[in-house]
Amino acid sequence: MSQFIDGDSTVLLTGATSGIGAVSARKLASRGATVAIVGRDADRGNRLAEDLSESTTGSVAFHRADLATQDAVRELAAEITRAYDHLDVLAHNAGLSTPDRTITDDGVELTFAVNHLAPYLLTHDFMDLLRESDRARVVITASGVHSRGELDFEDLRLERDYSAIDAYARSKLANVAFTLELADRLETVDDAIVANCFHPGFIPSTGLFRGASLPTRLFVRLASLAPGIGTTVEAGADRLVELATGTEYAERSGQYVSDDGPTDPAPVASEPEFRERLWRVSADIVGIEPDWP
Ligand SMILES: NC(=O)c1ccc[n+]([C@@H]2O[C@H](COP(=O)([O-])OP(=O)(O)OC[C@H]3O[C@@H](n4cnc5c(N)ncnc54)[C@H](OP(=O)(O)O)[C@@H]3O)[C@@H](O)[C@H]2O)c1
Repeated sequence: MSQFIDGDSTVLLTGATSGIGAVSARKLASRGATVAIVGRDADRGNRLAEDLSESTTGSVAFHRADLATQDAVRELAAEITRAYDHLDVLAHNAGLSTPDRTITDDGVELTFAVNHLAPYLLTHDFMDLLRESDRARVVITASGVHSRGELDFEDLRLERDYSAIDAYARSKLANVAFTLELADRLETVDDAIVANCFHPGFIPSTGLFRGASLPTRLFVRLASLAPGIGTTVEAGADRLVELATGTEYAERSGQYVSDDGPTDPAPVASEPEFRERLWRVSADIVGIEPDWP
């Protein structure tokens, strides 16, 4: 791996209070970077920031934000913009799955809000900070589950039917489609910023499934005990760090990276019409003009 990340680098990593994000934060801070970690739990976040600042060569600060609402996303963007003068890596890793259909204060289905709209709006709000870096990278933790995702633009609130896995899969499909669309748009305006996403592998030991239904939790528990099923948090974090720092991704953009490296995502994620519509609908929901970056 290159020295893309060093003591002068600034990284923003969401979903850093647990699982893949917490391990990635350690790996990135170990390269001496300034790492801004984001999570909901101030106690856990501040403890982790303190621990990493003491035990690594990096400098780690915790910023609290519940990414479920657009106000909170905008407040986080404003706080980060006040605190840092550039961003070299923007890693959208926060994600959830929720057993019951939940509508946020903005009137959006919760999984879609946290997993897709928050990265969409944060990326928009951080464009200036990313442009202050010589070469910046946007990294999104997607999932192989995106291939079973279906996105019905007429039923974004999932009023007809709700299943936690379907809601999660469509949010991950949105992650992949957003990454590809962002990469294409960046190429036309500013090729100093790349955008890539990845599948970290099935990692039963993270907190992702803690709120899942009992049968799902039982399945995940069994999977975590069975040899050969799934992978480790370390391996998932290694992939995030590879996309954030590896020479291979310095100029390569619009990739979906899975176990075998860059891989074709589900065909719908690459469809220009689908990507464009998702972009415009997302802009409309968060109240910004769609003609960015
Ligand atoms: N584990 C897997 O098998 C797997 C497979 C494919 C993709 N992924 C993806 O990997 C990413 C990391 O997940 P993980 O497996 O490491 O699970 P995790 O341990 O539950 O970590 C998720 C992180 O996201 C944060 N988060 C959740 N909702 C949030 C919200 N409303 N506002 C702010 N932060 C929020 C969590 O914060 P709190 O600590 O406050 O909850 C936590 O830091 C997710 O995007 C997930 O979709 C995971």
